[in-house]
Amino acid sequence: MDKVKVGLVGAGIWGTMHARAYTQHPLVDLAAVCDLDENRARQVAEQYGVAHVYTDVVAMIENENLQGISVATPDATHTPIVLEAVAKGLHILVEKPLATTVAECEQMISAAKAAGVLLMVDWHNRWNPPYHHAWQAIRAGELGDVRYIYYRLSDTVYVPTKMLPWAAQSTVMWFLGSHALDTTCWLMGKRPTRIYCQKRAGMLAGMGVDTPDLYVTLLDFEDGALAIIENTWILPQASPALIDHKCEILGTQGAIYIDPTHDRSFAKYTPQTIQGFPNAPFADMFITPEIHGKQMGFAVESISHFVDCIYHNRPPLATGHDGLLNTRLIQAAEKSAQIGMPVDLGLDR
Ligand SMILES: NC(=O)c1ccc[n+]([C@@H]2O[C@H](COP(=O)([O-])OP(=O)(O)OC[C@H]3O[C@@H](n4cnc5c(N)ncnc54)[C@H](O)[C@@H]3O)[C@@H](O)[C@H]2O)c1
Repeated sequence: MDKVKVGLVGAGIWGTMHARAYTQHPLVDLAAVCDLDENRARQVAEQYGVAHVYTDVVAMIENENLQGISVATPDATHTPIVLEAVAKGLHILVEKPLATTVAECEQMISAAKAAGVLLMVDWHNRWNPPYHHAWQAIRAGELGDVRYIYYRLSDTVYVPTKMLPWAAQSTVMWFLGSHALDTTCWLMGKRPTRIYCQKRAGMLAGMGVDTPDLYVTLLDFEDGALAIIENTWILPQASPALIDHKCEILGTQGAIYIDPTHDRSFAKYTPQTIQGFPNAPFADMFITPEIHGKQMGFAVESISHFVDCIYHNRPPLATGHDGLLNTRLIQAAEKSAQIGMPVDLGLDR
């Protein structure tokens, strides 16, 4: 079997995870890594045995005869990279959010369609075991009609202040709300019709990172079902995990409760525990846990899915259209927070 030849753009925290996932995959040749910061690209290439390093994505695409690329650069930088790659006939796996404007999402979707290439957005919670179980149960009708979803996805203050150098150019809504909105809509399987959002700021701005502290969003769906979504970036550093992820799904015939953060499948207490992440007691068991030197977890599964889609020429389970809906919802949420009123989404299926 011939290997699928791919490249990576963006060798930061999440791009490094992509590099590791690709180099572990028996059917992938990760041929090149590109980053504006050459040292970073070189470091990742050396760590994972990648032959070529670039600082210019156009040069990488022209020289490497790739079939696909991962785009793992900061949120607002995805579009020109995706368009360059699509123009050369490459399949794309782009990190969430697809883009920060609706116009850019539409541009990427129509370019990918015209070129006949796959455009997948990395909504990896669709591979997260408890969420996938819930999705299956809902689709099988086990809950009856879903009337309500509560969804919390938040981080400790470590993420905006110590992990993401570009946190002030983004928001917790783009970083985590995007996942929460995507997973909620995917679980619900209904058309969202109206959004009402409020946000609060002050704590992070006081710490020198000028971005909101939290968002609370109420989403209406076409048949009157509701969702409440909560995203903050100010959980205490001493929290038992870096991320607080929770979901409750209520249907006419049953309910599902998901708590991958506090499921207590593993807890470790040492003298460092009080300092929180990276010494928090509840280690990651789902996203990218390392088992016998191999990176496992649902974040790896979504990347493998992209490879499968290229290999078998199948459409991905998370598309550019899902990315477009997400960006529309976030823009409408921001508008709602600004005017203090609900915003009708006016979405046609
Ligand atoms: N799916 C998830 O759960 C998840 C988790 C973390 C990050 N992300 C997403 O991944 C993306 C990257 O996040 P990160 O945390 O790795 O950021 P990061 O800051 O650690 O890394 C980004 C890298 O991109 C490089 N870069 C910027 N512009 C570039 C360009 N035009 N060409 C080449 N390289 C460029 C930077 O030099 C940097 O090395 C973001 O869109 C983020 O939202 C997704």
